Amino acid sequence: MKGKFITFEGTEGSGKTSIIRRVADYFIAKGYIVVMTREPGGTPIAEKIRSIILDKSHTEMDAKTEALLFAAARRQHIVEKIVPALEAGSLVFCDRAIDSSLVYQGVARKLGVDQVLAINQYAIDNIMPDLTVLIDVRPEVGLARVFNNKGREVNRLDLENHDFYHLIYNGYQALMKRFPDRIIAVNGEGSIDEVSKATIELIEKYI
Ligand code: TYD
Repeated sequence: MKGKFITFEGTEGSGKTSIIRRVADYFIAKGYIVVMTREPGGTPIAEKIRSIILDKSHTEMDAKTEALLFAAARRQHIVEKIVPALEAGSLVFCDRAIDSSLVYQGVARKLGVDQVLAINQYAIDNIMPDLTVLIDVRPEVGLARVFNNKGREVNRLDLENHDFYHLIYNGYQALMKRFPDRIIAVNGEGSIDEVSKATIELIEKYI
């Protein structure tokens, strides 16, 4: 396919979403056609699945159901939006994708990375990201940002979140070792300007 499928991953507090916007603006100014999108979501059907998954009242949701819903949303997104954009030669910038499932469902929810990869392979028909930018922020830095944003003191639940956060962080580090040609880390601890610049340099080298 003519375009490039570039995904962005990172923990909460990595600044991923602001960085994608900056990076997209840069490539648009250079004359590229950029399609910015996100998972779960990106199309009306996938956004509906997103609202089912993220609905806080759905406390009964089973981990495998959740993993399958993420994969279902991903399939619809790929078929309806990503493949046509790639065929048209666009740069597709996607906020989270398959690696989020491998880490959140595979590692944090303990379904196993290989199992989650298997259901996703069925869903995506080999449409893997060409490049995945991991916005790398150490857990203590990311957590501090999250708490500062909330503007309040750390409570018991936050401390539970602390373990979850480390699981996600370590999960991404392990994935990077597993897919070293595809997943490239950018130091995410600088200012948004600095991190955006490093991300732009990485993508420019790649495309
Ligand atoms: P969102 O509000 O978009 O989070 P963020 O700003 O951190 O990207 O919510 C998406 C949540 O869904 C986030 O906690 C990560 C999670 N997620 C998974 O667990 N599996 C997946 O496959 C994807 C795409 C997201």
